[in-house]
Amino acid sequence: MAGGGFVDAQGGARAEYYEYNITWYFIFATVVAALGGSLFGYDLGVSGGVTSMDHFLKEFFHEVYKRKQEHLKETDYCKYDNQLLTLFTSSLYFAALLSTFVASHVTRNKGRRASILVGAVSFFLGAILNAFAQNLAMLIIGRCLLGVGIGFGNQTVPLYLSEMAPAKVRGAVNQLFQLTTTLGIFIANFVNNATEKHPKGWRLSLGLATIPALLMFVGGLFLPETPNSLVEQGRLEEGRKVLERVRGTTKVEAEFQDLIEASEAAKAIKHPFRNLLKRKNRPQLVIGALGIPAFQQLTGMNSVLFYAPVIFQSLGFGSAAALWSSTITTGSLVLGALISMALVDKLGRRAFFLEAGFEMICCMVAVAVTLALNFGQGVALSKGIGIFLVVIISLFVLAFGRSWGPLGWLVPSEIFPLETRSAGQSMVVCVNMLFTALIAQCFLVSLCHLRYGIFLVFGGFILIMTLFIYFLLPETKQVPIEEIHLLWQNHWFWKRYCDHDDQLQQVERKLEQV
Ligand code: BGC
Repeated sequence: MAGGGFVDAQGGARAEYYEYNITWYFIFATVVAALGGSLFGYDLGVSGGVTSMDHFLKEFFHEVYKRKQEHLKETDYCKYDNQLLTLFTSSLYFAALLSTFVASHVTRNKGRRASILVGAVSFFLGAILNAFAQNLAMLIIGRCLLGVGIGFGNQTVPLYLSEMAPAKVRGAVNQLFQLTTTLGIFIANFVNNATEKHPKGWRLSLGLATIPALLMFVGGLFLPETPNSLVEQGRLEEGRKVLERVRGTTKVEAEFQDLIEASEAAKAIKHPFRNLLKRKNRPQLVIGALGIPAFQQLTGMNSVLFYAPVIFQSLGFGSAAALWSSTITTGSLVLGALISMALVDKLGRRAFFLEAGFEMICCMVAVAVTLALNFGQGVALSKGIGIFLVVIISLFVLAFGRSWGPLGWLVPSEIFPLETRSAGQSMVVCVNMLFTALIAQCFLVSLCHLRYGIFLVFGGFILIMTLFIYFLLPETKQVPIEEIHLLWQNHWFWKRYCDHDDQLQQVERKLEQV
């Protein structure tokens, strides 16, 4: 999960003595965090619909609008290929990527609450600028402000949540962020369906993003700083008080001591990024910081999400049918998140990655073959084939929604040891945003040039990532965080990277504890 430098007492030496109740204070923090997810999701969902609305295209992307109306000689795959149009979508993620570096600094030095407030304000301003945009510049600057909001929000809100949650329910809380992201996407689709007919409807779609931002800002004003952050800043007394309130008991000694120790250990690490590059951290670097966040985006999921209405229109669906089809597909995303929440701790991470990976490859091949046989030269698809494609894309989304979607954040968050956790989590967010932006920028031009072949390219990537998981990711289900290192030591490939001295030290430490 996203995070910029944090002190985590999870799995601390005294974990078995932690006491807690689920308090209103904690529930309040969860609700505010949920708003952070829906903010991210609303934006993910709204841009695809807006970029396929005629009134929006007429006003800002006349070229695209004209091409769409005229049915140019070029194949239909190219109808929407316009780098400025894609910049509208991707600018947000480039801005988010850059702002995660600043967010990480603010989160660490000024606290989690400060970052939540900055994120909400920036997102709010971006939404206003977009809703009242008179020209392309206003639109793109607005998108960048939204991006800064998402950079701060994604970095901090999930972190705030994990720090406030009692250790025993932290996994479920982590998944909650994904659930609210998918709900945000789903709601955005309904909004687009309602507004797309009206000439100014797109303004409402973009402007409604102010609502979650406003709620998050107001919620943020009343939020307490996390105990972890207060301890990190040396405000021990306050930290203890907040911990007592949030846990609903004064018996927080064990957890508080672990927090202080974790904070000291984290402070002792002078160069967390350099630490991450050390040989002994190679498994976490390759799997957690680079592989999983990049692969999550290379599934092609966001191309479907950003451009589903555009794809369906390119395929000859009417504008309203295209938006409804994308509502069905995003509904599958919510269902996927629910399935994952319910079963991932029972069935394991690998099982979901592998079975869903197989399903996603089949879906991509089915889309490519269907298009290769039935599509091109300006001829609209028959109704039957259109419905078949909606079903296949929904199955693909359902598979992503229970595997790479939630696990793309959950697995990295469980494999970094304390000394590289903050640096590792910052890299997860950056790599994820970088690949989100690249896919947003490159998808339509690739669709134009590679035609149905683009879906085979995604299928190929999914095959590679499924093999990557099969050979390189050990099962982390129900493994306490402090024992994750044993997984690498016993792994057929990663064991060569585990320092012998390190292993000895760990055994000695275990013996001392016994
Ligand atoms: C991903 C997003 C994606 C969303 C959809 C998230 O986990 O990071 O890129 O759009 O899931 O479910």
